[in-house]
Amino acid sequence: MLVQGKNYKTIWMDGTSVFMIEQNKLPFSFEIFECKTYQETCLAIKNMTVRGAGAIGAAAGYAMAQAYLAAAAEKESFITKAKAEIEATRPTARNLFYATERVLRAGKISVENAFTEAEKIADKDIRDTRAIGAFGNELIKDKARILTHCNAGWLAFVDYGTALSPIYTAFNQGKEVFVYVSETRPRGQGARLTAWELHQAGIRHTIIADNAAASLMAQGKIDLVIVGADRIAANGDTANKIGTLDRAILSNFFNIPFYVAAPSSTFDTECNSGNEIIIEERSQNEVLFQEGMDENGKWHKIRVSSPGSSACNPAFDITPAQLITGIITEKGIIIPDKAAIVELFKGIKNE
Ligand code: MRU
Repeated sequence: MLVQGKNYKTIWMDGTSVFMIEQNKLPFSFEIFECKTYQETCLAIKNMTVRGAGAIGAAAGYAMAQAYLAAAAEKESFITKAKAEIEATRPTARNLFYATERVLRAGKISVENAFTEAEKIADKDIRDTRAIGAFGNELIKDKARILTHCNAGWLAFVDYGTALSPIYTAFNQGKEVFVYVSETRPRGQGARLTAWELHQAGIRHTIIADNAAASLMAQGKIDLVIVGADRIAANGDTANKIGTLDRAILSNFFNIPFYVAAPSSTFDTECNSGNEIIIEERSQNEVLFQEGMDENGKWHKIRVSSPGSSACNPAFDITPAQLITGIITEKGIIIPDKAAIVELFKGIKNE
């Protein structure tokens, strides 16, 4: 995607270093962060320098390749430990495990093969999200008003994104679109990242407080909801950013189509239902404090809650399949049930 006239991916590898857009600094400053070792890449995933399902997957694949490079004599135990460390960074994101498993198998042949496999995963992410854009575009009518939650744009993938990819395609085809962007507390991925992406692309949008969605829906101001996914179970139950479930329940109540956009690499067919998905718990400080920049460019972290109170901070929630109208995948739009997901996986090989 273009940033200040230059084409960027969210994450890439050059030599043995992983480079990524520093997402914690956006939208205030645009910086590139370098990770020279698998441990540095792990930390970047954990502290959300890189975040979002596909971007985490690409980072994890690259981290595994870096681990293979670092492994010396005790190769097998070193790689087992490194893989466990990488997988512990963000437990809900299916793409992370998809990538570590693929690169683990590839690296058994050679270190070069591990690097090639990690690159293949990143390339597939680009192809898949582009295809999601083409399929999802069919759902978007001219003058559509679309609500999205969190950031499932190109910053959350290697390029294009999932929930935003159909919006980019529709816009590029000349459709008039308007996007309502949920702020997405506590990390503000909507207000900071989705809004920044849409602004870069010149797409009309407005940020809404998370709790404004019901009121806007009640007023008939939203035609369609599209969100991303972090892990989709075999029955279609979907883990996504906390607050997604609220939007799904509301969409159901107000009879608004509610779509999830995700590539097959986000599906976990070994997970029978949403009950089996592990939900990441993050630091209470993300709720108790907020960070940002003042108009003089100075960074501040301020408490926005009563001192002495604690907070609980689940990062994701589970939307039951019956609340989802359809899942936009790289192979087409499917209904969220077991049979359709089995069908989706027929013929999908490691590409
Ligand atoms: O915690 P994050 O920012 O890594 O969360 C991931 C997400 O961006 C969302 O849950 C998103 O909607 C799905 S991933 C593109």
